[in-house]
Amino acid sequence: MRRIYLDHAATTPTDPEVARVMSLYLTDRFGNPSSTYSYGQEAKKAIEEARVQVAELIGARDDEIVFTSGGTEADNFAVKGVAFANENKGNHLITTSIEHHAVIETCKFLERKGFRVTYLPVDVYGLVDPSDVKKAITNKTILISVMHANNEVGTIEPITEIGKIAKERGISFHTDAVQTVGHIPLNVDELGVDLLSMSGHKLYGPKGVGALYVRKGTKLVPFMHGGEQERRWRAGTENAPGIIGFGRAAELARREMSNEAERLTYLRDKLIEGILERIHHTHLNGHPSGRLPNNVDVTFDFVEGESIVLNLDLEGICASTGSACSSSSLEPSHVLLAMGLSPEQAHGSLRLTLGKWTTEEMIEQVLDVLPRIIGKLRAISPLLRNHR
Ligand SMILES: Cc1ncc(COP(=O)(O)O)c(C=O)c1O
Repeated sequence: MRRIYLDHAATTPTDPEVARVMSLYLTDRFGNPSSTYSYGQEAKKAIEEARVQVAELIGARDDEIVFTSGGTEADNFAVKGVAFANENKGNHLITTSIEHHAVIETCKFLERKGFRVTYLPVDVYGLVDPSDVKKAITNKTILISVMHANNEVGTIEPITEIGKIAKERGISFHTDAVQTVGHIPLNVDELGVDLLSMSGHKLYGPKGVGALYVRKGTKLVPFMHGGEQERRWRAGTENAPGIIGFGRAAELARREMSNEAERLTYLRDKLIEGILERIHHTHLNGHPSGRLPNNVDVTFDFVEGESIVLNLDLEGICASTGSACSSSSLEPSHVLLAMGLSPEQAHGSLRLTLGKWTTEEMIEQVLDVLPRIIGKLRAISPLLRNHR
């Protein structure tokens, strides 16, 4: 059976060109980048090239990029790093109720350490209101952290507006751009951010590598203590193959992004329209137009998302009920609840995220299979029986 992979928000397949470059640094060019002989210096040079490639993708300078073990570490680094570096200035952080767990759990940890955190609400589309950010600021606020686009519903947040507010008040501004980097054009100066998180495996690079953009002059404490790697921001022997693969993925994304975003938007809209047309009692989650080009998130009344995912899997289609890290838990999505959905509706959600190798034929196949699955599940649904 041919597989149709529609879970690119969870992870993307590694581009073969990325894998090819990485394999060189796993085999022949295995040297430690800190070693002074040529094996080491070869790896060091390639890491610095990757830094330039990643910086160029987001309009940053290469010395503002710190490589990390992924998006989670970049989020931890940004939030804890700024909090601990500014303790003498204040103890208040502002974030949103729809952040990835990497930010939310870090904020909860800081609350246990005596910091105060405001979790801003969102509207029915999952949008944060910049005026809510303004109202939440106190003279103790040291960090604002708002994600660029939500990983579940795909809504793109008004980062530029919030960036202006943060700048006016002299507050550090972080955005988790794990879902947008390499997918939509993005420039750190236009967004007005001081810190920005990225992850390799969301843009056809490898897993276990990411980066934090740190604007020159931003006050934060290092994430790992030890050697002098990453200009002392993040000690530890560099994941050279990972970083070099991430760099190549960033370069490919920069070249392919605009055509790819256009192609995916067409397929996304075809899938959304097809689902809403063919399956009644179905709602689109997230913003109708201000959303990621590859994101389709829908709620089917009277059915469980988990059952849909299992049935799709039997047909060779990979999809998810929400973010990968929460899809193994039976808690309804905190994002959908924050958008005002009931726990039952949140349980009936399905996320389909498209990618580089998704074709129109695959979308047609999903549109053929999905109504059958929903029909079958509704026929045996106690939720529907209770509703009647
Ligand atoms: C918005 C967002 N932030 C952070 C992460 C975590 O990134 P990583 O898997 O690289 O740790 C993810 C991954 O799902 C994400 O979607």
